[in-house]
Amino acid sequence: TEYETIRVERRGRVAWITLDRPEALNALNAQLMHELVDAATSLDADDAIGAIVVTGSEKAFAAGADIKEMASKTTAEMRDANHFGPWLEFARVKKPVIAVVSGYALGGGFELALMCDVILASDSATFGFPEIGLGVIPGIGGTQRILRIVGYPKAAELVLTGRRIDAAEAERQGIVSRVVPAAELLTQTEELAAAIANKSLPALVAAKAALDGALETGLEAGLALEAEQFTALFDTADQKEGMAAFREKREPDFTHR
Ligand code: HXC
Repeated sequence: TEYETIRVERRGRVAWITLDRPEALNALNAQLMHELVDAATSLDADDAIGAIVVTGSEKAFAAGADIKEMASKTTAEMRDANHFGPWLEFARVKKPVIAVVSGYALGGGFELALMCDVILASDSATFGFPEIGLGVIPGIGGTQRILRIVGYPKAAELVLTGRRIDAAEAERQGIVSRVVPAAELLTQTEELAAAIANKSLPALVAAKAALDGALETGLEAGLALEAEQFTALFDTADQKEGMAAFREKREPDFTHR
């Protein structure tokens, strides 16, 4: 497929999606949203891919939804434009998705990072919800996801003030998985993405489903969901191979089935 606002590349079992609207700091307009969701869902359906990296440029992961596109819209027009449905599809991707953030991750850009499973941040990264200063609020999951990570008071401060935080503060608050020096971001991303993508695909998908289940359910239901995901893996070739490799003191050779 030909995309205009993103670039897609495959390296081994890792797929890289690079947001590519440099003229707008990767602002998430409708075209970019549709292209990103299309790419992510196709890669999700491709057995040759084990993990998806989503990244931007050195200056910006994404500076938010496209303000120029939304500015003059009415409530009815915003409903029709459906900026929400496609993002739900992105968040439903079954494989691990790794956000790699350099520079600005603001508004919808921050929300996009929060839809991913792992967030690697360059020490140059900046996060924030500037929406309140535009007379709006986060609209693609920001309030819901940040609250589940940092708790109510810290979430409320970020959402109500629009204050930007740097990578170190984001790491302290548990918002990002890891902060790395800008110069090491590429190699650390490659290592981490390959370490994930080369694991058994059914196990990766089960692990993500179990983690996602923890966000949706109470403890008892979550434990039942985890036990079911765990048990179902015992009919996979990769479970037999993984455990045989352990007993034979060798590396597993997964077939992702
Ligand atoms: C449209 C944007 C944009 C955005 C930047 N640009 N962010 N265009 N939507 N969100 C454009 C600028 O207009 C400019 O183009 C070019 O990108 C470079 O940006 P500058 O502002 O000149 O760069 P700089 O001075 O370095 O400032 C960087 C910045 C600033 C701090 C990130 O651009 C900024 O504050 N951007 C807006 C951030 C924001 O408020 N995001 C939340 C959006 S609402 P031109 O051609 O004009 O020079 C949102 C809601 C989500 O995300 C819910 C959706 C349903």
